[in-house]
Amino acid sequence: MALESLLNLVYILSAVTFILGFKLMSSPESAQRGNIISGVGMAAAIVASLMFPEVVRYHYIGIGFAVGTAIGLLFAYRTPMTGMPQMVGLLNGFGGLASLFVAWAEFDAKGDHQSFFGGMVLWLTAIIGAVTFSGSFIAWAKLEEKFISGKPISYSGQQYVTSAVLLGMVVSGVMFSLDLAAPEAYYYFAAFCALALVLGVLLVIPIGGADMPVVICLLNSYSGMAACASGFVVNNNLLIVAGALVGASGIILTLIMCKAMNRSVANVFLGGFGAAVTTTSADVVGEIKPVKTEDAYLMLEAANSVVIVPGYGMAVSQAQHAVRELMEAIEKNGGEVRFAIHPVAGRMPGHMNVLLAEANISYDAMVEMDSINPSMDTVDVCMIIGANDVVNPAAKDDKGSPLYGMPIIEATRARSVIVMKRSMGKGFAGVENPLFFKNNTRMLFGDAKASLQALVNEFKAAGK
Ligand code: TAP
Repeated sequence: MALESLLNLVYILSAVTFILGFKLMSSPESAQRGNIISGVGMAAAIVASLMFPEVVRYHYIGIGFAVGTAIGLLFAYRTPMTGMPQMVGLLNGFGGLASLFVAWAEFDAKGDHQSFFGGMVLWLTAIIGAVTFSGSFIAWAKLEEKFISGKPISYSGQQYVTSAVLLGMVVSGVMFSLDLAAPEAYYYFAAFCALALVLGVLLVIPIGGADMPVVICLLNSYSGMAACASGFVVNNNLLIVAGALVGASGIILTLIMCKAMNRSVANVFLGGFGAAVTTTSADVVGEIKPVKTEDAYLMLEAANSVVIVPGYGMAVSQAQHAVRELMEAIEKNGGEVRFAIHPVAGRMPGHMNVLLAEANISYDAMVEMDSINPSMDTVDVCMIIGANDVVNPAAKDDKGSPLYGMPIIEATRARSVIVMKRSMGKGFAGVENPLFFKNNTRMLFGDAKASLQALVNEFKAAGK
């Protein structure tokens, strides 16, 4: 008993470190500390869990631990920064699968002792786990464009099929919970697990590429809820607390993302958004005007106010250090440089902030979309580095665009715009960008890092 009290005390302290960690992660300066504190809390919780008297044999746990750690390390080292959302997606999925297995194991071991309520808890754990697993797998495949295209997949009667699957899941769950000791209980268990796996697929396939960030956040939240439910199944308080924290923070992030992308929360929950749109290029008027490095340099050299909009292409070309060098050159020349940060620029929340901070660019220079847009008319040069969807005016003007409704950085209102990209390739949403054809836009084609370095060299050559 004394040991159990001690272990529960470790659990409480671990829960405190998780909450403290979250708090510290709300600011970029303290985020690393928060991560370390939560990590230490998690390590303590794992050790405490292994010391509970119910754990009688360690060899299977040891094998699982070693294999899981090796795979996790390999994944983390091999995944580039640009592949983080896919990796997060997969990890969410494994969290869901783990909860499904917990429910299965508990049903197998103690099914005949469970009440109706106990059965419903097992059901809930299994279905949230299964939806999270298959939904995350599809999200991963869509982001990687492996096995399945990133485009929304819709078919007629979609809502009816989804509703039928939902109904089947509920009915089999109730039948299962009525008598867990009955021989059919296994069939009901298998049925709702299979239906939940199908539901995960059905909820994610209609989502268009541009809306993927919201889905990843939502699945993250689902994985937390699944862990929380499995905490009830195995009667583990820390699992309940940790799962609830992940579930709640995932929901908060989902709401923030929905607001940032002007998407309806209800549609996200029902999985029916991002579909039924057609891409149009009817509004694309004007012609592409390529610019040479020397001319782009002259524009920057004459500018008093420069706004840089970083996007996914900056991450691909790892141009953040070259960006800082250019920023320093412009500032030395008397110009003011600010960075306009769109909430979904890149491929994960905070992607641009992290990259720019890595290059020692001060957080004070990074301005959020809502704060920078009102001053855009007074900007001499807006320089877009590998961004596309987040500056696409179709999001404001073209009702047929999959981006329609998403707030954008209004680059086109600047006096002149320089766009750095390699070609006329489309962004993540796969749509044309009318900004590239506007009168005040110049295209500086090439890899972002190479173009930035060439511009820095121009400043140096001019002795600036
Ligand atoms: P995107 O719209 O994806 O556009 C990136 C652009 O970078 C491309 O048009 C590409 O054009 C260019 N590019 C790629 N490699 C480059 C290189 N080496 N040098 C220069 N340019 C390069 O990026 P964005 O504007 O940042 O928008 C993000 C998109 O991703 C949104 O649609 C968002 O919804 C989605 N998304 C975001 C997240 C999160 S949470 N941030 C997660 C998943 C999806 P070229 O090929 O012509 O060079």
